[in-house]
Amino acid sequence: MEALNRSLDVDWRLWRQDVRGSRAWARGLERAGILSAAEAAEIDDGLGRVARVLEEAAGPEAFADEDIHTVVERLLTETIGPVGGKLHAGRSRNDQAVTGFRLWGKDAVRALRGEIVALIGAIAGRARETEGIVMPGYTHLQQAQPVPAAHWLLSRAWPLLRDLEHLRAVQRECDVLPLGSGALAGCPFEVDREALAADLGFSRVTENSMDGVGDRDWAARLVFGAAMTGVHLSQLAEDLVLFSTSEFGFVRLGDGFTTGSSLMPQKRNPDVAELTRGKSGRLVGNLTGLMTVLKGLPAGYNRDLQEDKEAVFDSVDTLSVVLPAMTGAVRGMELVRERIDDALRPEMLATDLADHLVRRGVPFRESHDLAGALVRAAEASGRELSALTLEEMRAVHPDFGPEVVAIFDAAASVESRAVRGGTSAEALEDQFKALAEAVARASSDP
Ligand code: ARG
Repeated sequence: MEALNRSLDVDWRLWRQDVRGSRAWARGLERAGILSAAEAAEIDDGLGRVARVLEEAAGPEAFADEDIHTVVERLLTETIGPVGGKLHAGRSRNDQAVTGFRLWGKDAVRALRGEIVALIGAIAGRARETEGIVMPGYTHLQQAQPVPAAHWLLSRAWPLLRDLEHLRAVQRECDVLPLGSGALAGCPFEVDREALAADLGFSRVTENSMDGVGDRDWAARLVFGAAMTGVHLSQLAEDLVLFSTSEFGFVRLGDGFTTGSSLMPQKRNPDVAELTRGKSGRLVGNLTGLMTVLKGLPAGYNRDLQEDKEAVFDSVDTLSVVLPAMTGAVRGMELVRERIDDALRPEMLATDLADHLVRRGVPFRESHDLAGALVRAAEASGRELSALTLEEMRAVHPDFGPEVVAIFDAAASVESRAVRGGTSAEALEDQFKALAEAVARASSDP
């Protein structure tokens, strides 16, 4: 039971938050007339001394206590004597634990947001440098239509912006004070919870004490945000794994982000990307784990809730390692223009051929078939689509004019898609601007 009961090895890292919450609670009890000014001062001083002890402590192994809350209170009482026992009036570990957890969560989410902003910045920065590089865009991992390399890179930045917006909402949700909820039924003393919230830097207080001790929605949404971010990072990682193969060769990762093989001297393994892809597994696992803990809990507080922290800590820890690593990888990677140029097949412009006829009034369904016929004709004669003569094209449809040769230019194709969100230089410029503005908005509040 002791081993099962103990959460200190997990909640050890909340000791600063617990001390901070306890000091604020002592002030709250003083304002409520439960502690005299002298007692409150003594407790405050004692908690300061406890903090210094914990600062020096090697870690949770040195303590036999059940959790961080019992450690702090025991040390306090050992330091200042029985008056330390007055601190827990009106408070329960149920509201105390989740208060410290929320304090920690707010800081953690803020830090993650900073890491995501850095990665988006790195991606956008690299995208800026790829001006003029047009690469194959894929659907079903088959060459589909040409796109600017910047467009591909930015397509991996927008999902991270959504993650950033999600985390910003999580931070707000986390920013609610449960302290003063007691074990479940509130506090019998006249503790001013608004003042307590202001003291601890929370914007609001929980409105229902039973929900206050039982609510971990913010934690679940945090872990969801981490899982979603993990999935996005995994997708970016997969692009890097694929594009850095000898077969593609579009990307060369920096030396610090690849490893050799102990056996095969030629290897440049994309470990940064593979580990990132692999870590997404535990991020998704944490979400499943926490949601399953929460499902089926009856109203009030339940001890199952002690299982809330590992998922959150692990998700935050994982992303705090993965995000900067990916930022470094993106900053240090190189796009290999020759390989990208070589990979562009003229067949990717078959849609442009069909669109050429559409501009001349041919229904798209027809022009699609006609362009398809040309692709097959080229294939049958062992040539690329661009090698067909104008006569051969005209044989398929008389509306093909001499300007059709201009179609076999990937850069022109990219330039022709000028809609918002499209691939032309101007559309891309707008996209860069929109992204920068959205990032600024999503990081505007602290
Ligand atoms: N250690 C717990 C936690 O981490 C709080 C303990 C509350 N214990 C109790 N028996 N109500 O959430």
